[in-house]
Amino acid sequence: MSNHSVPQLQLALDHTRLDAALDAAERLHEYVDIVEAGTILCFSAGVEAVRQLRQLLPEKTLVADFKVADAGSTLAELAFGAGASWMTVICAAPLATFASAHEVAQRYQGEIQIELFGNWSMEDARNWRGLGLKQAIYHRGRDAQAQGQSWSQQDLDAMKALSDLGFGLSVTGGITPQELPQFKEIDVRAFIVGRALTDSANGVATAAEFHQAINHIWGK
Ligand code: 5RP
Repeated sequence: MSNHSVPQLQLALDHTRLDAALDAAERLHEYVDIVEAGTILCFSAGVEAVRQLRQLLPEKTLVADFKVADAGSTLAELAFGAGASWMTVICAAPLATFASAHEVAQRYQGEIQIELFGNWSMEDARNWRGLGLKQAIYHRGRDAQAQGQSWSQQDLDAMKALSDLGFGLSVTGGITPQELPQFKEIDVRAFIVGRALTDSANGVATAAEFHQAINHIWGK
């Protein structure tokens, strides 16, 4: 067992149809801590996905995974106005985009999450902290995963460095319960899980497997 806090479980809804996403949310929301309107769903159904998920789950922490690259304040108005608690901004976005999205997020008592894909540096991370951003998502992309990319020591070291800077860290990208032990030294705020929950024959049982593994590794 570790000294870190117990990570939460976040359900990512990456359906191409809103009705299927709402069905999955109804089925699984009680078994997860956070629900996300995934990027694929947001492309398919737009901000309506966030609005309907908020209607269905008035009390839940809800993420709009827009992966914003520009027009930070406009897109943040759309996300938070529709009921999002948090919205993602991609690490490649200019600092000005982070600043404008963060300003809107604060007005709604929401938060911005930085999506870490590909190229970024610890200097970027310090700049994001300087703006007051507190959450980052360490991401293995589904295309990279499909080409065989696994988690490396370099990934784990970067995660630790981000935690040391004060970021609450979420980890995502094809995560399964069997993969969790490799993150045992990391202070993970949440594991974001899509397909392992939504494509499972029994998503409720799979969510239970995640919680069991999380409690075994990080539980007090
Ligand atoms: C893709 C995403 C996904 O929502 C996230 O990675 C979780 O999905 P999965 O567990 O199916 O990989 O943000 O960009």
